[in-house]
Amino acid sequence: MSARIIDGAGLAARLRAGYRERAAVLAAQGRRPGLAVIIVGDNPASRVYVRNKVRACEEAGFHSRLIELPAATTEADLLGRLAELNADPAIHGILAQLPLPAHLDSARVIEAIAPEKDVDGFHVASAGALMTGLPGFAPCTPAGVMAMLAAEGIDAAGRHAVVVGRSNIVGKPMALLLLQAGATVTICHSRTPDLAAMTRQADILVAAVGRAKLVTADMVKPSACVIDVGMNRDAAGRLCGDVDFEPVREVAGWITPVPGGVGPMTIAMLLANTLKAAERT
Ligand code: GUN
Repeated sequence: MSARIIDGAGLAARLRAGYRERAAVLAAQGRRPGLAVIIVGDNPASRVYVRNKVRACEEAGFHSRLIELPAATTEADLLGRLAELNADPAIHGILAQLPLPAHLDSARVIEAIAPEKDVDGFHVASAGALMTGLPGFAPCTPAGVMAMLAAEGIDAAGRHAVVVGRSNIVGKPMALLLLQAGATVTICHSRTPDLAAMTRQADILVAAVGRAKLVTADMVKPSACVIDVGMNRDAAGRLCGDVDFEPVREVAGWITPVPGGVGPMTIAMLLANTLKAAERT
């Protein structure tokens, strides 16, 4: 039987409608949620992502501020901008779109964002909170995956979750969230000797490596839940994930499409974190 397709776009739209209502309540109290998005340089993919984030804010009735800086911006200038935003009561969330130009130190830039406004969840304070189970902002993509599992009634407790990818943005926080939810978690990466032997053990398989169609049907346990975080182009230039969708959907129990799966959930979680930041003020 073919897998159930998890409709991330539909779920994200329902969540965003709820966030809009909560934002209206805050706005009536003079606390309209505000997100500042900084982009440095003219990376075309980053420009699309940033535009989508700003548009989602506007649709949910949030205040948004897009700060577009030239590629030659100095680190001192960028840190100065962040200090201003940290002190601005109209701004509850701040994100600096990655990647930054090579002359800027991403770690130093991220650490300059006040942890209470770190709605991307990339600050070491946010990572530490996630690691230790303290309240904080979880990175948006893995948080979106957990929201999808919850919406599908998939309980990770007692299941074997295999995460392929070990980035700070997705793989590592994904593993921690699944662990927190009671899963037994394996993290695989480019140095894992027999990837298929690991992925075949997964009740929940999360692919987050950025390699088109890396996960093939023979790598998937029948009836597993397969979450595709990848966003790649195939040989024909079509958008595709890290999972070979058509063959894998014949084996899996659940599968997320690309596009329309995890991507829209990332933006929904950004709004959720911004709302949470505003509600705390
Ligand atoms: N670049 C790719 N994904 C992200 C993200 O979620 N946040 C930021 N700030 N940059 C990114």
